[in-house]
Amino acid sequence: MDNINRRNFLKKTSLSAAAVSVIPSYLQAETERPSQSKYMGDFAAPKLEKVRAAFIGVGARGGGHVRFFAALPNTEVVAICDLYEDLVKQKVGWVKEVSKSNRHKNIAEYWGDEDKWKVMLKEVKPDVVFIATNWINHAPMAIESMKHGAHAFVEVPIAVTVQEMWDIVDTSESTQKHCMMLENVNYNRDELMFLNMCRQGVIGEVLHGEAAYIHELRGQMNEQKRGTGSWRTYHYAHRNGNLYPTHGLGPVAQYMNLGRGEDNFQSLVSFSTPARGRAAYAKKNYPSDHKWNKLDYKGGDLNTSIIKTNLGRTVMVQWDETSPRPYSRLNLIQGTKGTLAGFPTRVALEGGVEGLTKDHHSWVQGEQLQALYEKYDHPLYKRLNEAAKGSGHGGMDGIMIYRVVECLQKGLPLDQNVYEGCFWSAVAPLSERSVASGGAPQPFPDFTRGNWKDTDPLAIVE
Ligand SMILES: NC(=O)c1ccc[n+]([C@@H]2O[C@H](COP(=O)([O-])OP(=O)(O)OC[C@H]3O[C@@H](n4cnc5c(N)ncnc54)[C@H](O)[C@@H]3O)[C@@H](O)[C@H]2O)c1
Repeated sequence: MDNINRRNFLKKTSLSAAAVSVIPSYLQAETERPSQSKYMGDFAAPKLEKVRAAFIGVGARGGGHVRFFAALPNTEVVAICDLYEDLVKQKVGWVKEVSKSNRHKNIAEYWGDEDKWKVMLKEVKPDVVFIATNWINHAPMAIESMKHGAHAFVEVPIAVTVQEMWDIVDTSESTQKHCMMLENVNYNRDELMFLNMCRQGVIGEVLHGEAAYIHELRGQMNEQKRGTGSWRTYHYAHRNGNLYPTHGLGPVAQYMNLGRGEDNFQSLVSFSTPARGRAAYAKKNYPSDHKWNKLDYKGGDLNTSIIKTNLGRTVMVQWDETSPRPYSRLNLIQGTKGTLAGFPTRVALEGGVEGLTKDHHSWVQGEQLQALYEKYDHPLYKRLNEAAKGSGHGGMDGIMIYRVVECLQKGLPLDQNVYEGCFWSAVAPLSERSVASGGAPQPFPDFTRGNWKDTDPLAIVE
């Protein structure tokens, strides 16, 4: 597996100096949409009374999706695929545990080599495919799933390169199948509440956001033969940019209605610190001839990128999975009348928050926030919080899977469209280009080909 990982990795992700200096080919893809293709921004698929799902990749992440999905009414797990037999068998066992009904009785099992998922798509013909593999497999698996007639639900990021993102958009538009990136953080309580407050105009005109994925994950390097660290470590070594932007950015982009009627991503600049932490960690923890000590770690420990929108608004996005510091997604949104911030959760409003603060020079925080949750908790959180209890990441994973299934069963548009998945994920390859060119601004491709202007902002779903 190590050799396969490394070879695929280098083939798919290396950015040569030559590639950086030519006119970005990713902008050339913005030709007219073919006539048989359709804009998917507010697409609603025909109702699926029962949702038949296949799962590819059931390691640390994918198993949780299988378990929560299987427990929902009118669902059927029709296939589970992974490289490893034990992981497949374990998840089949989980399905039996959570679902007392007999409806998951024919789960086809696939394992053993890199291409078994292709056989699975042909044999099982699922309605939807959940993909939670290593990053370089996301795009090919999503594209083939759509071509085989299934809606694709892909873990973050949706793809690695901008070309892959265009291929996903083109396939979704030509097959008229959903391809949603599973950004679970958009379903977290605070993020949902901030969205609700922004929509109600509580902070006035929204001007600036701050987003991050700051999560010290060096310990994943202990997963060396299989598991997250076995493939993610090569990304830190070979790529230098903001590689995992969507957890922080997804919610902020929806507060600001980016790609939905009001405004859109225009360009970004990006800078990385020197790369120190990974090499130091490898040196400290592994023998000198260990494979992690043979890598030349190029990815700076902390990356800071700044996005400029068409309206001139700004979003700072930081990424650091290496430095010794507490977890944060920043989750800050600032407007003409106030600021909402995360980690820890805080609110400041011009004129103060009634009954809590005198003015905007102090935050509402800690126990005082209870009054704000009571007033502004998102209706979706209030409705689904109980049902999602026990699912991953404090319940947000369950709310997300519940909503996916609900939208498919009722024939509703999804909460995140294919273009949002691509815009949010594009920060990674664009930041790599910017870092490699001394921080030069990189234009965002318009994956919607101009249609974002007619796309409604995400409503406050009841
Ligand atoms: N949204 C979140 O909160 C969150 C959290 C963790 C991970 N993730 C994402 O989930 C994805 C998976 O991460 P992970 O930590 O579970 O990694 P992992 O390595 O534990 O799991 C990936 C699984 O995919 C399988 N796989 C790889 N190639 C395959 C192939 N060709 N056919 C079938 N199976 C294949 C592997 O065997 C492995 O079991 C990543 O995209 C990651 O970014 C998201």
